[in-house]
Amino acid sequence: MTQSVLRSSAWQKIRKAARLLLQGGPAGLVRKLFEHYTYHVDSKWHFVYLQFPLSNEFSRIPASSAVSVRIAEPADMPKIKDDLFPVMTGEQTEETKYFDLVGHPNVRCFLAEREGRLVHYSWVFLDAGSSPIVDTPFDGRLLCSCDAYIGPIFTAPGARGFIYPLVLSNIVRFLKEGSATRRIVVLVQGKNPAAVSFYKRIGFSEIPDAQRRPLWSSLGAALIGR
Ligand SMILES: CC(C)(COP(=O)(O)OP(=O)(O)OC[C@H]1O[C@@H](n2cnc3c(N)ncnc32)[C@H](O)[C@@H]1OP(=O)(O)O)[C@@H](O)C(=O)NCCC(=O)NCCS
Repeated sequence: MTQSVLRSSAWQKIRKAARLLLQGGPAGLVRKLFEHYTYHVDSKWHFVYLQFPLSNEFSRIPASSAVSVRIAEPADMPKIKDDLFPVMTGEQTEETKYFDLVGHPNVRCFLAEREGRLVHYSWVFLDAGSSPIVDTPFDGRLLCSCDAYIGPIFTAPGARGFIYPLVLSNIVRFLKEGSATRRIVVLVQGKNPAAVSFYKRIGFSEIPDAQRRPLWSSLGAALIGR
């Protein structure tokens, strides 16, 4: 089930290309293909992988009476569709597919609600080996069955500024108390130094030698001057 959500089949890819062609014309399709190419030869090689061993003490994040955090249940789906789907734009529209995993035994979706509206989701994969990280250049041999992966995460634009640290502290407490997880793994785009320093500030550290870059990808990047 997780695999069918995380990996598109060849047929789904063809349907997506046809939809792009219909919506954006040939130029839209070429733009998407170029984005796809730059992702594979450039962007994904700038990911930074960080870890937090749950035996460590987590930073104290002040609770907020204005925000409540809970794990999504199937009954939350209508509200998720009303509150979150309309504010998910760009890349986040692709993330609606993850909500098919609500209720899956190895996956949790943490939601934050403020003033009666859902404003945030954080996906937690209790088995990092069946999570979005397996589609990145991360060296899978560095994972064990006691690793959980967090991502993707999203906060509604109007609510940004303090939600994720609060949700993350709830996730850490949940994993410390009630799971076999020993380590949290996350990834961020290295071109986003604010995100890297955020995680380091709250106790995460970089995983050394987390990926190996094949020669073909360096040559592909050189072709587009990256
Ligand atoms: C990342 C995001 C959820 C944080 O918003 P938020 O819940 O309001 O939390 P904050 O704005 O307090 O940000 C908390 C910290 O997360 C950091 N952050 C930024 N981008 C981040 C990312 N991609 N992953 C993790 N943390 C990120 C911020 O730098 C901030 O640290 P700072 O206080 O040192 O600046 C929000 O900016 C967002 O939804 N962005 C669009 C989607 C996205 O990029 N998701 C991450 C990729 S999966």
